[in-house]
Amino acid sequence: MCGIVGILGTAEVAPHIVDALALLEYRGYDSAGIATLDGGKIDRRRAEGKLRNLRNSLAEAPLSGRSGIGHTRWATHGAPTKGNAHPHVTPRVAVVHNGIIENYRELGDEVTGAGIVLQSETDTEIIAHLITLELDAGKTPQAAVAATLKRLRGAFALAILFTGHDDLLIGARHGPPLAVGHGDGEMYLGSDAIALAPLTSSITYLEDGDLAVLTRQGAEIYDAGGKPVQRPAQQSVASAFRVDKGNYHHFMIKEIFEQPEVIGHTLAHYSDLANDRIAMPEMPVDFATLERLTICACGTAYIAGLVAKYWFEKVARLPVDIDIASEFRYREVPLAAQGFALFISQSGETADTLAALNYCKGAGQTIGALVNVTESSIARGADIVLPIYAGPEIGVASTKAFTCQLAALAALVIFAAKARGTIDEAEERRLVRSLAEVPRHMLDAFRQEEKIKTIAQGLTKVRDILFLGRGTSFPLALEGALKLKELSYLHAEGYAAGELKHGPIALIDQTVPVIFLAPDDDLYEKTVSNMAEVAARGGRVILISQNDRIAEWQGRIESSIELPDADPFVMPIVAAVSVQLLAYHTAVFMGTDVDQPRNLAKSVTVE
Ligand code: M6R
Repeated sequence: MCGIVGILGTAEVAPHIVDALALLEYRGYDSAGIATLDGGKIDRRRAEGKLRNLRNSLAEAPLSGRSGIGHTRWATHGAPTKGNAHPHVTPRVAVVHNGIIENYRELGDEVTGAGIVLQSETDTEIIAHLITLELDAGKTPQAAVAATLKRLRGAFALAILFTGHDDLLIGARHGPPLAVGHGDGEMYLGSDAIALAPLTSSITYLEDGDLAVLTRQGAEIYDAGGKPVQRPAQQSVASAFRVDKGNYHHFMIKEIFEQPEVIGHTLAHYSDLANDRIAMPEMPVDFATLERLTICACGTAYIAGLVAKYWFEKVARLPVDIDIASEFRYREVPLAAQGFALFISQSGETADTLAALNYCKGAGQTIGALVNVTESSIARGADIVLPIYAGPEIGVASTKAFTCQLAALAALVIFAAKARGTIDEAEERRLVRSLAEVPRHMLDAFRQEEKIKTIAQGLTKVRDILFLGRGTSFPLALEGALKLKELSYLHAEGYAAGELKHGPIALIDQTVPVIFLAPDDDLYEKTVSNMAEVAARGGRVILISQNDRIAEWQGRIESSIELPDADPFVMPIVAAVSVQLLAYHTAVFMGTDVDQPRNLAKSVTVE
């Protein structure tokens, strides 16, 4: 999940590499570094922490050269120090790497056995030495890289510069994505088309196992068997437009407030709002006869899938198997013939989700991808791509992508229900109308912000927080806890409210706030029974519900957040705003790095 970029340019490349790294920082921000070739010699600058530290070090000591590689790191092997920052160099090569080399120990022993003293704790440095040993044995750069790649186990995307070869850049891909960019007398490598967008829109995506040999005249690509292959160049629609925060303090809060608009865009794509009808693109499976649906995703995208499971099963009577992709991929799940598997991912690059997709593909499933990035690996591996139109999501915590995923999934549920005959036209119209009202309800939900700030301030004084809910409010409880954990570093857990008595109730005392997601739906009475159990034990209850319901509990709850009167079907989309604002403001009070919380990355391209 690091970001890599390489440029064979016609002018100084370091400033362009830094600009490209800024567009890749969402992949990791533990450290950053650049190496260039000047007069055939490798020179580099590296800095711990965010890219601005590298910019400062380049300002003090600029790097010259028309060929270069750069890296922004999410640490795997080795602490996030300057010494472990990429590029890793030897007298003959400079290497940047995204991924993990699983057999790095045995390869490392071999390298140290050859008398080499390692300078870092990384697996990447070992790759640099292995290539160097092959070069020392007389191989060409291409042959040295090819021989080294054969020995690596794990996942990698690499970009490599060679001392004395100003017109050569080699890239290789096994797992994580890597794209070749075509310029005018220039050539580029990048983790994705977004990073290369300021330089070119002509992109060739490398396939798994490919090795690309770049000169300023073009690229030769070889497949995993070493055979030359043609990979078509395509016009990328990735935008180089660097969204800014406008008047907001953080991208996250800007993205929270963008939700009514981007949900509108998403719904416009999947429905005919003028006629209250669903208008899905042509689907590669027949929902009328589909027996089961498989959904796989990670993190917040998984939680969106969990909400959809409740919807598909209740509204469309379609059984759903859902799993976290990292578990699914190794579970050797038996899958029915002609099944449909849906993969949900904002980035479209999450390694575990992609691996689960490939597993399902191998098992003959038809593949759907619900993604925000339509040029991503997950989108490219799918039979049908369902875009969510959230626009670039920069904050590491997923907010608008989550609610747009829910909006698109809700439309798919209505479509499936109609195809299966579990709803009639009148019900379709009613449900579509309820979806169309989501943006308006969200605007209402925003009005609770000041009250949410007060509650958030209280949360900064506690260590543990519980989120509880039933039905579709259960996944939302998971989402509330996940958001709070990742942003404020407080310990939060989401539970099904009915599960409380089976263990977590032991945690209840005056120090643990318990946040109940209890919208006025058919499970409301059940949820508030659990709430009464908490209140009876002196627990601190925060109730998220409609105004009338909150009024019934005055005196027995510590505080509350009002929900708009949305239809229960769409309530998880609307209520997401409450838990997002709560997590955001708690993090602001805690003084954490809201848009780039510690240890995280926006796109998780390692397993
Ligand atoms: O890009 P993806 O949607 O596949 O990412 C999945 C998770 O990594 C992501 O949702 C993560 O959990 C977010 N940090 C949650 O806010």
